[in-house]
Amino acid sequence: MKGVILAGGLGTRLNPLTQVTNKHLLPIYDRPMIFYPLRALVEAGIRDILIVTGGNNAGDFLKLIGNGAAFGLKHINYTYQKGEGGIAEALGLAEHFSGGEKIAVVLGDNIFERSLKPFVDSFKRQKSGAKILIQKVADPQRFGVVSFKGKKVLKVTEKPKRPDSAYIVTGIYMYDAEVFRIVKTLKPSGRGELEITDVNNAYIRAGRMTCDILPGWWTDSGTFESLLRAGQLVARDPSIPKPGRRRS
Ligand code: DAU
Repeated sequence: MKGVILAGGLGTRLNPLTQVTNKHLLPIYDRPMIFYPLRALVEAGIRDILIVTGGNNAGDFLKLIGNGAAFGLKHINYTYQKGEGGIAEALGLAEHFSGGEKIAVVLGDNIFERSLKPFVDSFKRQKSGAKILIQKVADPQRFGVVSFKGKKVLKVTEKPKRPDSAYIVTGIYMYDAEVFRIVKTLKPSGRGELEITDVNNAYIRAGRMTCDILPGWWTDSGTFESLLRAGQLVARDPSIPKPGRRRS
């Protein structure tokens, strides 16, 4: 299975922090945001990784990450998204890289506690289709919200005013190669983007989506509040080694 980190977009919600740098290079406690999803994919056993980036500072990713040696990788792949056409548009740029294999996708601003390995392993065993990881949050209207009938996932609604549940889709997705055909059928949403939620709904309608609850803490970091929260969660988490602190 291959890994894709989506780190494009312009990060306008974090202006002026993102005026002269890419959102995913901003610090979360003691390291750049992009390090967390990258470490998570490597820890889950994925070695073949593509970073989709964009904006004016794309070259800085190369300076920071290089060939991925600091993460134990021999090689890392990069591609460039022009503009801010949406998460699904950024994902579409991974088609050539995927080479028909299944992919694990992580949004570059998602920071979380637990290993993805059990979910990656279970998706390897899933014959085809897709998998989403969900969590219960206090502010579901900021996210893609899951509607259920009993335990069955009925649909995902992007940023609804009146959420059907407190469960939201995290920015961790797994897809078979069919995803690229679906992306090509999408039309821009009201906010002018190709939405990952439309991709997920296509799999749900086809009865080809599985859904697991992600344990441990999880947050995005694309707003001032969530950026602060992510830093605090990381700083307090004893499982994340901190430089200059003795580990007992
Ligand atoms: O974090 C989980 C949420 O992420 C999901 O619950 C939502 O369903 C999903 O739409 C997304 O919502 P956001 O509005 O928070 O997404 P945002 O525009 O902040 O983009 C998240 C990441 O996706 C961003 O850090 C980089 C990547 N991205 C985004 C856009 C718009 C791209 O690579 N290219 C893009 O054009």
